[in-house]
Amino acid sequence: MEQPLIVAKGIAKKFSTASAAEVLKGVDLTVKVGEKIAIIGKSGAGKSTLLHVLGTLEKPTAGEILFEGEDVFSYDDTKLAQYRNAKIGFVFQFHYLMLEFTALENVMIPMLLGGVNPSDARREALDLLGLVGLSHRVAHKPSQLSGGEQQRVAIARALSRSPKLLLTDEMTGNLDGETGRAILDLVDSIQRERGMTLISVTHDDQVAARSPFVYRLEAGTLVAKTPFG
Ligand SMILES: Nc1ncnc2c1ncn2[C@@H]1O[C@H](COP(=O)(O)OP(=O)(O)OP(=O)(O)O)[C@@H](O)[C@H]1O
Ligand SMILES: [Mg+2]
Repeated sequence: MEQPLIVAKGIAKKFSTASAAEVLKGVDLTVKVGEKIAIIGKSGAGKSTLLHVLGTLEKPTAGEILFEGEDVFSYDDTKLAQYRNAKIGFVFQFHYLMLEFTALENVMIPMLLGGVNPSDARREALDLLGLVGLSHRVAHKPSQLSGGEQQRVAIARALSRSPKLLLTDEMTGNLDGETGRAILDLVDSIQRERGMTLISVTHDDQVAARSPFVYRLEAGTLVAKTPFG
């Protein structure tokens, strides 16, 4: 049987504030290579927390994440950062672009940090900005771009090291319906073309309905959602 891309086993998370309750209470999830899943749930259910743990931005209080069979939280900080840079792309609700840099530079930076030489990084970044329809905006800074354009730069940046796993958190939450759909169509087509694995967090049922597998995060655990409810 083909090895899953990512497996979460018994993930628990409690933040270390005095009043904090356990946000995640034993989340199990297996996602295969090239699969597309959506995670829904109420505000405060812990969706972003789970996505951050899956992407190793946040350490769980218990449980493990296996990526291609390896326990990634056993890596030291340097190896973990390298793993994240090479294998995972993130797109958040807010773009988190670096404001003092152009669109081109924002897309190039993760590649430069990953050791790609500047001329290759530049060529690849130009290709990616073309892919998201921004060839005419490469020298613009984030403040000179519309919300949808900023989000497309963030997508190009997320794809910049050809990640095996793309994690998105309310990626279109700040965009109007039409722009949001165009961005979702774009990500879906790139996902299919590259055979990339996609895990999307959303509160929007219409966004979730684009995924063949939908899970609901409820009371700290994940429940598979059937087509009937
Ligand atoms: N860094 C933190 N420190 C303390 N508590 C936190 C932290 N991050 C999140 N929480 C708490 O964890 C719970 C889950 O938050 P999370 O952001 O994961 O929810 P969510 O499902 O993404 O919600 P939304 O749909 O509103 O984005 C919330 O009660 C929140 O207050
Ligand atoms: Mg959230």
